[in-house]
Amino acid sequence: MYRLAATAPTMGAVLYAVGHTAEIIRRAMQLGRVRVVGWLVLAVALVATIVFLVRSHLTLAGIVAAVTLALVGAVIVDLRKRIADLTRTTNLLAASVEDMRTEAAAAAAAQQVTQPPAPTSPAQGTKKPVALSRATRESLIRQIGWNTREQLRDLEAFAYLNAKVTPRALMPALGRWAINTRSMARLADLLAETRPHTVLELGGGASTIWMGYLVEGSGGRIVSVDHSAEFIEFTRADVTRHSLQETVETRHAPLAPLSTAPDSPDWYDTAAFADLSAVDLLVVDGPPGTTGPRARQPALPALWDRLAPGAHIVLDDMHRDEEKATVDEWSQRFNLTVIDPGTTGIAILRAP
Ligand SMILES: C[S@@+](CC[C@H](N)C(=O)[O-])C[C@H]1O[C@@H](n2cnc3c(N)ncnc32)[C@H](O)[C@@H]1O
Repeated sequence: MYRLAATAPTMGAVLYAVGHTAEIIRRAMQLGRVRVVGWLVLAVALVATIVFLVRSHLTLAGIVAAVTLALVGAVIVDLRKRIADLTRTTNLLAASVEDMRTEAAAAAAAQQVTQPPAPTSPAQGTKKPVALSRATRESLIRQIGWNTREQLRDLEAFAYLNAKVTPRALMPALGRWAINTRSMARLADLLAETRPHTVLELGGGASTIWMGYLVEGSGGRIVSVDHSAEFIEFTRADVTRHSLQETVETRHAPLAPLSTAPDSPDWYDTAAFADLSAVDLLVVDGPPGTTGPRARQPALPALWDRLAPGAHIVLDDMHRDEEKATVDEWSQRFNLTVIDPGTTGIAILRAP
């Protein structure tokens, strides 16, 4: 009696530990309680059979072995059922993945094809999924992830810009052919820090309108020059729509050979700058790169004498090697300080 009382707590602890462990295994393997109890009984029966055999209790060992065999049979039946269930689920999943792939391929094809294909009857129609290679799939997933992050960064920059501007009409879209949203936000910071009186922009468009709003409060003015008669009209119409005529002046300057640099690609007709002096900020976003190699390189040599001391120079499209080469050349030749080499897409430089 005394021994029973002494071993009871130990037995209790062992039972608790076994039960607890069994519960953890049950959850990890997502097994039902009945199944776990079955496995436990089987384990106990096996141990009991071995113990009875060792102690030569052959009758007891035979009975327990028979029970164990029956249990093993039940477990085998149970396992077969589980395997059949898993196979069915796997087949169902494979079928729905195949359906999704077929639908995605059909949607992609529908975007490319102008004429819809002749409909096939369900009897003839066999689904032909477009099999994407693993490398293509991974590349697509990487691309989608990259685009999503870019869009989030653009949204963040747009929210930042939006807090600084109260538009009087729909704002022109940033990005694509225009300066990107993050660069525009960086430019907005530069305008707020330096409060330029005269901004000269080479290559007008969406940035002209955003800059117009950003400087009108501090009495700044923007002269925006463009080589394209067509696009300068677009920008001019936008200036009027946003009532920015007091702040923004647009000038057309067709591209022409530079008398001071005959070997350079054609650049803006310099007559467009004749009346300008003490420019505090020069924004170089034109001529377009398609005009010729290093199309923007002539800007600083041609306009250096028109800049105010300590003027800032901004050059867009810093992802291009030719713009990087231009920044290197300008910095050395004019002793410029590189404030930003192009983190967002624009380089910011300061004259001595
Ligand atoms: C690199 S883009 C940048 C223009 C501007 N700095 C901006 O960020 O919005 C340069 C050229 O785009 C052209 N452009 C202006 N408005 C445009 C428009 N709505 N669509 C396409 N191109 C345009 C102009 O001829 C301009 O010189």
